[in-house]
Amino acid sequence: EGAHWVDTRGRPLRDIRISVTDRCNFRCRYCMPKEKFEKEHLFLAHTEILSFEEIIRLARIAVENGVEKIRLTGGEPLLRKGIENLITELGKLKTWNGKPLDVALTTNGSALQAKAKALAAAGLKRLTVSLDAMDAEIYKQLNDVDFPIERTLAGIEAAQKAGISSVKINVVVKRGTNEKELIKIAEHFRGTGVIVRYIEYMDVGATNGWRMDDVIPSRQIVEEINSRYPIEPVDPNYPGEVATRWRYKDGMGEIGFISSVSEPFCRECSRIRLSVDGKLYKCLFATEGFDIRQMLRGGASDEEIEDAIGRIWSARDDHYSEIRTAETSAERAKHKIEMSYIGG
Ligand code: GTP
Ligand code: 5AD
Ligand code: SF4
Ligand code: SF4
Repeated sequence: EGAHWVDTRGRPLRDIRISVTDRCNFRCRYCMPKEKFEKEHLFLAHTEILSFEEIIRLARIAVENGVEKIRLTGGEPLLRKGIENLITELGKLKTWNGKPLDVALTTNGSALQAKAKALAAAGLKRLTVSLDAMDAEIYKQLNDVDFPIERTLAGIEAAQKAGISSVKINVVVKRGTNEKELIKIAEHFRGTGVIVRYIEYMDVGATNGWRMDDVIPSRQIVEEINSRYPIEPVDPNYPGEVATRWRYKDGMGEIGFISSVSEPFCRECSRIRLSVDGKLYKCLFATEGFDIRQMLRGGASDEEIEDAIGRIWSARDDHYSEIRTAETSAERAKHKIEMSYIGG
């Protein structure tokens, strides 16, 4: 039952990433550098932000049309009040083939100690925590608000203890920033069941001043880890999986690499993004979104909303990471679309 939307490159819509807040208590330099994000007026007002009812309605319509996975992001999604209630409601949706919707969350981990139990009770099964360093001082420098790593690590343990079955760590790799931390992170989580993924630093947002030179290709990190702890490739979980998977040959678990710069994965990209204020973006690097909030608040019927999303997706041709150059990156940076707004 239900139509499945397919874009001009034959890619179905399967996955929505929703930014539930543009606020964050961290000030990572590559995302919300202090000098640009200290003033309140940069953030959206409460009335501009989609309500849970609005998010759930959109999610239901999308799920009826083939979406199988929803990831909640931000900003810092655990700062959104009552986020566990949204997770509970989304968890009630069934996909076109009768399976429960896959609901996942990407967080900085700072509120996990307090929230892990409530998230698990809401039915959250998949959680990803951003963590770019093991060293206490470097971690503080990177979050730029002196947040201590002990609390994030305790939060990760709390999540596992609470029964969240899949816990992953995202490590954004930036040259000159955290090279020395990479192996330490692998070491810390080896054998714990937590999957570490190394992410090539991308030119998202308008404030991070990205340069190609800042990117360390995944290949290099694969080699570094392999020379210390031998690893071998693993087949993807699903077609078009963002991360390429590897496992330790000694059975100590799995790691992954997200190489959107050196090996783009646009060919099977089935993701749409919903910004905090209800704009749909066909690509992480899109500079313009479609205002679906206007329809939600203007009395549009489910069919009208369904048609609108179908039209947007059917016309989609985006494949930014395949055509990225220093020029496209500089051009994009002129448009102020921040990752915290559009959702990582
Ligand atoms: P899984 O459901 O575990 O496969 O999650 P995921 O890897 O899709 O999600 P996560 O939020 O952990 O994203 C990891 C990194 O991949 C982040 O830096 C994202 O910005 C990046 N990423 C996710 N989807 C895309 C995408 O469609 N395009 C690009 N260029 N990067 C993406
Ligand atoms: N490049 C790559 N990943 C990034 N993230 C934030 N900014 C960037 C960037 N410039 C990551 C966060 C989070 C995920 C959603 O995106 O660390 O783990
Ligand atoms: Fe916050 Fe995540 Fe951005 Fe860091 S990367 S400032 S934790 S939203
Ligand atoms: Fe999808 Fe755009 Fe990322 Fe390519 S760059 S994988 S099209 S979101």
